Amino acid sequence: GFLGQITLDGPSGTGKSSVARSVAARLGAAYLDTGAMYRAATVAVLDAGIDPEDAEAVARVVAEARIEVGTSAGTELVEVDGVDVAVRIRGAEVTRAVSAVSAVPAVRRRLVDQQRALVEAADAVVVEGRDIGTVVLPDATLKVYLTAAPEARAQRRAAQLGLRTADEVAALAVDLRRRDEYDSSRADSPLRPAADAVVVDSTDLSQEGVVDRVVELARSAV
Ligand code: C5P
Repeated sequence: GFLGQITLDGPSGTGKSSVARSVAARLGAAYLDTGAMYRAATVAVLDAGIDPEDAEAVARVVAEARIEVGTSAGTELVEVDGVDVAVRIRGAEVTRAVSAVSAVPAVRRRLVDQQRALVEAADAVVVEGRDIGTVVLPDATLKVYLTAAPEARAQRRAAQLGLRTADEVAALAVDLRRRDEYDSSRADSPLRPAADAVVVDSTDLSQEGVVDRVVELARSAV
């Protein structure tokens, strides 16, 4: 079987999470969703009643929070200080604030350390995020950067969230663009493909097609 690390980076709405989960299952590898960790940190910030743009206060709160992610019997497990937040981290309030929290260098340092420790424990792992190939695991076996046309990404996210009206889809497209700009332009670990990443454009591929491609790349990488 596959032994090594696969990084899967890219903007939101590319189908990254579903692809990462399927690839991990196909290869018998562990799976780590680093976005869930930044989202959990954001729950801690919101619950502390702090402005997500107040970098110093954000750093202080996140330093104290115990953040745990994993899977248990196929369901996603996300906890902040022992409280289950798996549903809450997908909500609009967290999605609105997460990019500001993730831009704080002390938050990134703390979560990157935790991510490396989690990955070290696995022989085979698929790690999904924004800076995994560039910062977290620069020596990964295979680096994939997943892209898709903005319209395709908005449609995909809208379908996931069950949005129907043109207004809802348009608002979502605006939110995706705002988050991508924030994530791509921050000073610390901006979203971008690693120099040695394979760029996979999923605009005209089915999810199965993307999974097949990544599995194929993984098998030829070892
Ligand atoms: O992937 P997901 O949409 O859950 O990520 C939520 C946010 O977390 C991203 O928009 C980004 O601001 C942040 N993030 C990050 N670095 C990662 C993963 C996520 O900054 N490795």
